[in-house]
Amino acid sequence: MFVAELIRETREMTESWRKQGYSIGFVPTMGYLHEGHISLIKKARQENDRVVVSVFVNPTQFGPNEDFDKYPRNFERDREICEKAGVDLLFAPSVHEMYPAKNLVFVNISELGDGLCGAKRPGHFQGVCTVVTKLFNIVLPDKAYFGEKDAQQLAIIRRMTKDLNFNIQIVPCPTVRDQDGLALSSRNAYLSEVERKAALVIPRSLQAARQAILSGERDAAQIIQLIREMITAEPLAAIDYIEVVDGETLKPVSRIDGPVLVAVAVFIGKTRLIDNFWYKEGSACS
Ligand code: PAF
Repeated sequence: MFVAELIRETREMTESWRKQGYSIGFVPTMGYLHEGHISLIKKARQENDRVVVSVFVNPTQFGPNEDFDKYPRNFERDREICEKAGVDLLFAPSVHEMYPAKNLVFVNISELGDGLCGAKRPGHFQGVCTVVTKLFNIVLPDKAYFGEKDAQQLAIIRRMTKDLNFNIQIVPCPTVRDQDGLALSSRNAYLSEVERKAALVIPRSLQAARQAILSGERDAAQIIQLIREMITAEPLAAIDYIEVVDGETLKPVSRIDGPVLVAVAVFIGKTRLIDNFWYKEGSACS
């Protein structure tokens, strides 16, 4: 595995692969890799001749009072995981390499970025779209892999790819969960043992909501209320949002008639966790 800190080296390597006719799969990450990331890498490994992973904690997607400084980092461990998973190129640039001067141009998304996490984290998706655009332009992959846990991010990246004509196929990958149901996230590392247990209220409440929909409940307010009651009963949990949104527009719905995304953001102590599930007629998957 080649480790590149420079954009120039990454470009040279991926360009030589393209010239040889190799397909390139790309997994952008912020590091502190877990089984969720590994599942994206595995899928990329299966579907491409060459696999590139980036590890970059992107400052422009964190708000001023968010956790950029304390976001968990362990490059040596990430490097080993990538090597073991068969990654060909690990791109791990410094902040200066990615943002050598003040950025004057940003990529913005309207509407899809307005609700859910976009409403709670102003500027977040502008930072995500900008860095993903930069990474796409550096790596020029054929396919890029994103987890469904970040459902809004995935919808936005898909739309950005379409609207800006990136010649890249976006591949969604299912959320990976611990055995007890908690969705894997690098931020789970912040949780104390007690908080880790309390966090289980999130997948439990979503599971109950899914059951209610499968049993015929179509009123979004009832679904939200059911989740709210369960989460409120957990003293360490504080709701940031609970929403039932249209699967296409991500706008809140009052009735569940077509595909919907049921999404929550919950603080467990100081740690903000997100989770969701999709409901499409006749099936509900997470
Ligand atoms: O999902 C993430 O880890 C990040 O938002 C991404 C896509 C790597 C952009 O920094």
